[in-house]
Amino acid sequence: LNSEVGQLIGLYEDAAKLYHHVLMNTQVGEAALTYLHQRGLTDEILNTFNIGFAPTEGLLKPLFEERHVDYQLLRTSGLFIENQDGQLRDRFSGRVMFAIRNGSGKVIAFSGRLLVKDPDAPKYLNSPETKIFHKSETLFNFDLAKREIRKADAVILFEGFMDVIAAYSAGIKNGIASMGTSLTTEQISILQRVAQTLYVSYDGDDAGQNATHRALSLIGSHSNMQLGVIQMPEGLDPDEYLRKYDATQFRAVYEGAKETPVGFALRFLARNRNLDNQSDQLSYINEVLKIVAGVNAPVERDLYLNQLATRFNLDKASLQQQLADVSQNQAPIP
Ligand code: UTP
Ligand code: MN
Ligand code: MN
Ligand code: MN
Ligand code: MN
Repeated sequence: LNSEVGQLIGLYEDAAKLYHHVLMNTQVGEAALTYLHQRGLTDEILNTFNIGFAPTEGLLKPLFEERHVDYQLLRTSGLFIENQDGQLRDRFSGRVMFAIRNGSGKVIAFSGRLLVKDPDAPKYLNSPETKIFHKSETLFNFDLAKREIRKADAVILFEGFMDVIAAYSAGIKNGIASMGTSLTTEQISILQRVAQTLYVSYDGDDAGQNATHRALSLIGSHSNMQLGVIQMPEGLDPDEYLRKYDATQFRAVYEGAKETPVGFALRFLARNRNLDNQSDQLSYINEVLKIVAGVNAPVERDLYLNQLATRFNLDKASLQQQLADVSQNQAPIP
């Protein structure tokens, strides 16, 4: 464990313990603790996720210096920012700290959330890439979720850490999140190894819907997992939904509101269209038929045709006729 990797992991372990201690037991952590309690996080959840607080006055630098930790190691650790004179100061300050663990449960990075809104600083700040932290292959909560994912043979992909934690506290423990950046192909292959089914459960706002659309096509083209979408009502994110309602209603959404990727695409295409007007209706129906033409299962195709027929009060036979035309004029979707 004297390798650089081992030493870095040791530093992160210590940093996580300190941040957590500051949050749970000290006066400088009090405002953050109140904030987290108000957001519905219990002490048990704060412990499980090793959530902490980085005080504004800096915490790690004096401690690691006192211990005579090697300067080069501190420089490359990502826990500090270096000024022009080579002076280090804590990278995270005034932030609620989410410990990011690797697949074996070792802390390898942090994501810090501003406690007080600041228009000049990002809401979430992540650790930089280091020898132990490779953002593109890291999934938040994968270590804890792995067993549940295997058991359910399904994984739920959330947009934010707080959504993963909310779901966990409502008893849905097979949730993970990517690292703020969009999903990567490395993350997809990690998930494909443990589950046959993946549900995308991003935020209900516009950004979340766009990200869902992108994620579905990326996963669809890089894996053969079964895909589904679970979207919170009212444009909420999962965490907001849990706070507004309760765990029972939250679980009910997860049991009842699963949408197929095509079902999602149909809703997504309808956004920003005025479907009261006939020319928009016709172009919408044509777009939808192109998507439906790519569906292999006849029953699933039928489901969407029925939906269209009902929604626009159309004769199903003419929809089928037009679907056949569309299918003929279209190369099969690979
Ligand atoms: P959201 O803005 O939806 O945040 O971004 P959230 O998860 O709902 O956070 P709360 O509820 O306000 O605390 C979703 C995710 O995008 C990344 C984070 O990983 C966040 O969880 N993100 C967001 C960043 O990396 N940087 C940012 O400045 C904002
Ligand atoms: Mn604890
Ligand atoms: Mn969002
Ligand atoms: Mn959100
Ligand atoms: Mn949120």
